[in-house]
Amino acid sequence: MLESDNIILQKLMAEQLNISSVYSGDEKYRQLIPQICALIEGESNLIANLSNTSAALKQAFGFFWVGFYIVDKNELVLGPFQGSVACTRIGFGKGVCGSCWEQSETIIVPNVDEFPGHIACSSDSKSEIVVPILSNGKVMAVLDVDSDKLDDFSQTDQVGLEELAKVLAPLFK
Ligand code: SME
Repeated sequence: MLESDNIILQKLMAEQLNISSVYSGDEKYRQLIPQICALIEGESNLIANLSNTSAALKQAFGFFWVGFYIVDKNELVLGPFQGSVACTRIGFGKGVCGSCWEQSETIIVPNVDEFPGHIACSSDSKSEIVVPILSNGKVMAVLDVDSDKLDDFSQTDQVGLEELAKVLAPLFK
């Protein structure tokens, strides 16, 4: 096989996820995160990398909605995502995403109807987790995951998604 063919083959294999259905919870994150690292390695384009990351999360966990809101001046602007159409701009301190930005901390919302100021992009969304992506202590974007089930996010999701946020942070430099 020619060297160039080999490189193409390796690249194709890197673009397929290998997620075992027998895994769940933290094992699934442990399986997935190195594969996301491999997917984004050698690609510097932010949109391409966030697109593949949201697709990988959707594919691995079947999340109802998963995507990014990226800080742009005094607003969060919708970035790459998987799921139904969503609101495009969220102010600082507004909704769960804007609150995560303001607090620079992960927010888990077991029941979105009980979160004051929650922004409902879909009436089917019932619970939510939003994780900040920090670079030098500054929020650059947030990773937002919604579920159509109540109380669907645990400490395991928080740990796994925060680890992923650390992997993604250098993309924003
Ligand atoms: N629920 C979010 C808005 C974004 S959508 O869930 C995709 C919020 O309250 O900030």
